[in-house]
Amino acid sequence: MCGIIGYVGEKEACPLLLSALKRMEYRGYDSSGVVVVGDKARCVKSVGKLDNLKEKLEDLPGGLGLGHNRWATHGVVSEENAHPHTDCKGDIFVVHNGIIENYKELKSKLQEEGHVFVSETDTEVLSHLIEKFFEGDLESAVKKALKLVKGAYGVVAATGSDPYKIVAARMFSPLVVSVNSSGGFVASDPTALISHSREMVFLEDEEVAVISKDDFYITDLDNVAVEKEKTEIDWSIEDAQKGGYDHFMLKEICQQGESLENSIRGRLDLEEGRAVLGGVEDKKEEIIRAKKVSIIACGTSYYAGMVGECMIEEMAGVPVEVHLASEFKYKKQPLEEGEIFIFISQSGETAYTLASLREVKEKGGLTLGIVNVVGSSVARETHAGIYNHAGPEIGVASTKAFTSQSIILALFALYMGRNKGMSFEEGVNFAKEIKRIPRIADEILESKEEISEIAKKYKDYSNFLYLGRKYSYPVALEGALKLKEISYIHAEGYSAGEMKHGPIALIEESFPTFAVCPQSSVYGKMLSNIEEIKARRGKMVALGTRGDDEIAEMVDDVIYMPEVLEQLSSIVSVIPLQIFSYYVALYKGLDVDKPRNLSKCVSVE
Ligand code: M6R
Repeated sequence: MCGIIGYVGEKEACPLLLSALKRMEYRGYDSSGVVVVGDKARCVKSVGKLDNLKEKLEDLPGGLGLGHNRWATHGVVSEENAHPHTDCKGDIFVVHNGIIENYKELKSKLQEEGHVFVSETDTEVLSHLIEKFFEGDLESAVKKALKLVKGAYGVVAATGSDPYKIVAARMFSPLVVSVNSSGGFVASDPTALISHSREMVFLEDEEVAVISKDDFYITDLDNVAVEKEKTEIDWSIEDAQKGGYDHFMLKEICQQGESLENSIRGRLDLEEGRAVLGGVEDKKEEIIRAKKVSIIACGTSYYAGMVGECMIEEMAGVPVEVHLASEFKYKKQPLEEGEIFIFISQSGETAYTLASLREVKEKGGLTLGIVNVVGSSVARETHAGIYNHAGPEIGVASTKAFTSQSIILALFALYMGRNKGMSFEEGVNFAKEIKRIPRIADEILESKEEISEIAKKYKDYSNFLYLGRKYSYPVALEGALKLKEISYIHAEGYSAGEMKHGPIALIEESFPTFAVCPQSSVYGKMLSNIEEIKARRGKMVALGTRGDDEIAEMVDDVIYMPEVLEQLSSIVSVIPLQIFSYYVALYKGLDVDKPRNLSKCVSVE
């Protein structure tokens, strides 16, 4: 959740820390702080966004530093609770992501020993624990401290008495190391380091990296050396910048034609009507033999999983169950014979998704990943997988990740289907329709201004109901999530068939509905639901297929999209809903890219 950066080298640390923190601001923006070690250690912290910290900064000379963007877990948003945290002498500095579960117990023991705490955070126990064991060797003190800790950490430590070394360690919380021509770096996120190098080393749990200006080594907590391979990040610094757009979210919405194209590039054999999925080819036999597919994910990725459920069941004839990772982890559900698992995660670091993956692996299940961030934990720990190739998603509200996850699930449905009885003709037709999707996305994006005008009309409502059926049901859920997370309007997504079973009680003039209603096998049923809402004077926006005049007469506002194969409709019908939410939030004057209380990557449980 939080953003972490550490640097040691010959350059001035402070500007490097700040630009890395800027790139990671989407991970947390409750407070931020830096410490720079030069002739002495100087630490500055501030609540709120990074600009507040910048305003407070004076000259901080020195070539070693740590920086942190906080997403608060333990303790209110305050300067005292902001990182870096230090020890009693102000000599050990620590930035941390994760939760130290046994911090209360450790804290009272340390207090009994005379340590004085100044924050309410769990993190501060780390700086005091390291202080307790520190006898001039930071690496050894960090290892001794971490052996006493239970919970999750991505932690980076430095001491004012050694300006040449930083020590980083990981347990359930990502850290990536890069030593390049600019010096030695460690960060919670490759985005922070991409301007210096594309080659990075991802730490695994219980690994400790000792980083100097031109070298690093990795050991486990027991000092056993670990050999690591470098990962090449497949996107560039331009991908991680706004590129002329006002917000990352808008850029990412508008990029979807391109990101969808990237997700399918080289993966469609149009002549044979097949999907070419090199990343799972090794597991082809198990996939073909599968009797059940279970999809596990959180948030937007979970809704993409629901889209995949409809596609795989319809195109490949295999039953699919979709689980929220946060629930799956506690269900103790027994694995079925012939069941395979797909884990979907943009970041590849979502704590529940990762925990579920580990549990399934331990029970012997085949695990496949659909992951955007190359080298992330889910990507590394699944048996096989398919990368999204959607490029970095920085806006906290997920947009292009959903569409790229959904199109990859369409490829997977084709892959499975053609190996399980889908005919050549059906395969060729489905492959051709998948190929059209990026251009359809581009066409939909041309209606951006129109949708923005509609958004203006609805920005002051306090509630919204989103309805859809079958392929449009997950889209309704995702549309409601987008609206609530960035505009703070209460929004509920419902299967339109469920409306009469409760939610219709909410409908009145001040409670509008957004109906996702492209031409489909359930179109007629959707129209009946729209009638029922109109009968109760509910205001309505509908998403319909171009040329559908009937729907235009029934609702207050209509957004049109091009005709698309029903099985692929969710991939593009979500785009107008993303645009709608973006403009509602914009007209409300809200910070679209950094909605309150949220973080891009939920790496703690
Ligand atoms: O990185 P992941 O795909 O695993 O993240 C899962 C959810 O936290 C994420 O999709 C979240 O719901 C979105 N940011 C919402 O827009």
